[in-house]
Amino acid sequence: MTSGRPVGDKTNSLTVGPRGPTLLQDVAYLDEIAHFDRERIPERAVHAKGNGAFGYFELTHPGGISKYCSAALFDGPAGQQTPIAVRFSTVGGEKGSADTVRDPRGFAVKFYTSEGNLDIVGNNTPIFFIRDPMQFPSMVHSQKRHPQTNLKDPDTFWDFLSLRPESIHQVLFLYSDRGIPDGYRHMHGFGSHTFKVINDKNEAHYVKFHFKTMQGIKNLDPDKALQLAGSDPDYSGRDLFEAIKNGEFPTWRFCFQVMSAKQADTFTAFNPFDITKTWPHSQFPLMDIGRIVLNRNPNNFFAEIEQLAFCPANMVPGIEPSPDKLLQGRLFSYSDAHRYRLGVNFNDIPVNRPQCPVMNPTFRDGAYCFSDNYGNLPNYYPNSHLNKLNQDPKAMEHRQLIQGEIYRHDSSQDDNFSQAGVFWNKTLKQDERVRLVKNMAAHLGKAKSFIVARQLENCAKVSPDLAKMLADELAKVAPASS
Ligand code: HEM
Repeated sequence: MTSGRPVGDKTNSLTVGPRGPTLLQDVAYLDEIAHFDRERIPERAVHAKGNGAFGYFELTHPGGISKYCSAALFDGPAGQQTPIAVRFSTVGGEKGSADTVRDPRGFAVKFYTSEGNLDIVGNNTPIFFIRDPMQFPSMVHSQKRHPQTNLKDPDTFWDFLSLRPESIHQVLFLYSDRGIPDGYRHMHGFGSHTFKVINDKNEAHYVKFHFKTMQGIKNLDPDKALQLAGSDPDYSGRDLFEAIKNGEFPTWRFCFQVMSAKQADTFTAFNPFDITKTWPHSQFPLMDIGRIVLNRNPNNFFAEIEQLAFCPANMVPGIEPSPDKLLQGRLFSYSDAHRYRLGVNFNDIPVNRPQCPVMNPTFRDGAYCFSDNYGNLPNYYPNSHLNKLNQDPKAMEHRQLIQGEIYRHDSSQDDNFSQAGVFWNKTLKQDERVRLVKNMAAHLGKAKSFIVARQLENCAKVSPDLAKMLADELAKVAPASS
């Protein structure tokens, strides 16, 4: 039993005679069932369905990023390794939903560094639907279930997205071939946001992080994906687990783009802190840092993957948030969600616990406190006994002067279409455009006609060619809404 007492018989309950009734004094049964009744914890509000694995980050290009960033995990000889945990996910579905749906994929990496945990909580897309965090709950509600029918609803889905045209860049990516990756191993990962990095001379630069799959990009044909959703809904999780079990360790190059603080100040092409934009590789080339390798499956899914808690605010000295509004909005949300989902002591759960010494004795007590709770150390600071704690001048935030008018600045018209236009006109080939339009029309055609009309207007601003192809396809699949 959970008290440690052995049970005489684990399979038969304690009854009066062979036919019952059962006795309330069967505390072994009560113990069993009471624990079972509490097995479920809340699923993640988004990214509920996912799988994960463990491995390492290996520095392959020492001296590359360390010119810009003083973080210890980048400062060392080639071959230096840092342990990592990674969780991949879909976004909109519940914990039991199918892996092969059209949806962005989460790509979250936790680096257990000697200076604390660094979490890059990204997606398989370099961009996002919105740029202001105020709209995040509405965006998520519109893509999840309708409050009345409890069904996924094409009207709410397209109503919100068509009213927020900054989503169009991500929407085009989503309906392209890359909208349904073939498992988690065959997709890139992106930190998506712009981050600030600080070097040893206390100089600031801005960077974007990229994970480039070494397995090659592979996507699923939508019909095959639909079939798999019925026949093998855990397709991506199975593929990941089996690859690692068979010794085919998935690997990604870990790269960065860099922009100096001065360049960022004078950059006029677009706001470099806007997550709906990418930085052109021609101007900001991709540079290698190292690689991440996944070589260990979890031994217990709940303990090691479900309880993983990633948070974009987990940064290490040398890495800081940029002004990106969406990133700023995320900094609070995740650990707030963890306090609800896992309890206030979530950082003591072994997979979340930093693998470096932590001395933080003002953090005490709370539900599920399984650590030594800092024993008899003073629980206040300053005190006359503990001087240093984890304080290190190297960990001081970068000093920066920022000026601006406090206001609810409207960013809705902040160049929503030009990069989507580049994606449509330059990145995609004609056969890819045809498939994108077919994919989008099949879903958009289910929405009410005034919503379809608004989305067609947005598409026309990307490219008249896109709007025309989409209208033609809609006329075939959903004549009433076109
Ligand atoms: C204002 C914007 C956003 C907010 C408020 C937000 C909030 C959240 C919350 C509350 C969770 C669940 C956390 C948990 O229970 O462990 C989550 C999960 C996640 N989010 Fe976001 N999110 C935002 C934008 C983004 C963006 C832009 C990305 C990617 C670039 C992203 C990637 C992820 C991933 C990968 C997970 C799953 C992490 C895991 O595997 O445990 N989110 N988000």
